[in-house]
Amino acid sequence: METTSALSPRFPSLLYSTGNKPRELSHVEKIALPRLHSGFNEVNRVLGGGLVRGSLVLIAGEPGIGKSTLLLQISDVMTETTRRVAYVSGEESIDQVKLRAERLNLEGKGLYFVSEINLSAVLEHLEGLSPSLAVVDSIQTMYLEEVSGAPGSITQVRECTLRLGHWAKRNNVPILITGHVTKEGAIAGPGTLEHIVDVVLYFEGEPFSSYRVLRGVKNRFGSTNELGIFEMGNSGLTEVENPSQYFLSQYRDGAIGSVVVATLEGSRPLLVEIQALTTLNSFGPPRRIANGVDFNRLLLITAVLTKRTGLKLFNQDIIVNVTGGLRISEPAADLGIATAIASSFHSSKPISGLVVLGEIGLNGELRRVSQIERRVTEAIRLGFKSCILPKLETGLSLDHTDIQIIKAGSVVEALKLGLTKKVGGDE
Ligand code: TYD
Ligand code: MG
Repeated sequence: METTSALSPRFPSLLYSTGNKPRELSHVEKIALPRLHSGFNEVNRVLGGGLVRGSLVLIAGEPGIGKSTLLLQISDVMTETTRRVAYVSGEESIDQVKLRAERLNLEGKGLYFVSEINLSAVLEHLEGLSPSLAVVDSIQTMYLEEVSGAPGSITQVRECTLRLGHWAKRNNVPILITGHVTKEGAIAGPGTLEHIVDVVLYFEGEPFSSYRVLRGVKNRFGSTNELGIFEMGNSGLTEVENPSQYFLSQYRDGAIGSVVVATLEGSRPLLVEIQALTTLNSFGPPRRIANGVDFNRLLLITAVLTKRTGLKLFNQDIIVNVTGGLRISEPAADLGIATAIASSFHSSKPISGLVVLGEIGLNGELRRVSQIERRVTEAIRLGFKSCILPKLETGLSLDHTDIQIIKAGSVVEALKLGLTKKVGGDE
């Protein structure tokens, strides 16, 4: 192990620390991970309870989505409970950041800002300040003289991240770094970054919408399926306390091609609207466009609708949208997607106040979804009147009188029960 000390500055990692002897796990005492409250419940939720000391957290997102704003707000709130916070920006000058701070009504007490791109200098500042939290915005602007390549290149980004991670662990201070992602969703430059850091959070949203979602992609200290939901306003980001209401704010009950599903994002049920539009395409191969739902899932649902319910979709373009720009990945939304498509195809309204739940199997059968009780409770809370569920669903323990539970064994049955009769002609 003589080489470890020579290696460690270049490849800093806990793995290389000297003096570690193998120990029997049963003799290792469990330690509670000390966590810092980030000041935002939505951020803590995604982090799995707060910022773990010594952890390196990457906040990735497209330019302009609000990463710097979020981190400046977190930094400021955290000065209330911690010693001091260091905010390093390689992108903005102190004047620019001061302007943003004014817009956010932040005083900046205990918040130390430095504009710097040389990582060695950054680390010196951190040593000098000895903060309780450090922010580096963005990792793509940082560089080390002894490393080849321009800032933003894979080698630079990798090395800089490794150094920051090492500093964070050695000093037991959490560091939040931002990283830009390209349109394709890769963190610009290295995807390898994701392996180096402890936590990867994506900050997402549609450019034309004011809502923002913080999504866990990797978390060494918690689950990754939690979402934090924010709204970008004139003075920064605010937490959205009632996301279902928020996502349904433009929903019109009984609109053709529009169906509400109750999805589960981590531990939180969320009601969202799925819209579908089918239009005749006599000229080319039919197109399928999936915004917010998985494309392959849409193909599967389309195939099942064609084969099992006789919907003639072979010459129809199909567009499916999740309103609000949210992404749903779980199959519990299958029946919602199918109902929206059938509603549009037949120009038939869904019955009033309807929420739809169920995974669709290849035979057109409906399969159970997890945590049904929480989803139904959320539907009741938002004032929905009926809920279509898979027939085999057994998870519903409560006797619900405030919502009509309609059980269906197959897609065919669900469509019969969920759609009003045909009210218009086919496209
Ligand atoms: P920013 O945090 O600079 O994004 P990023 O660091 O991800 O590139 O946010 C930029 C956008 O946010 C910009 O278009 C302006 C908008 N914004 C608001 O709408 N309200 C605000 O209070 C602030 C500070 C920014
Ligand atoms: Mg920024």
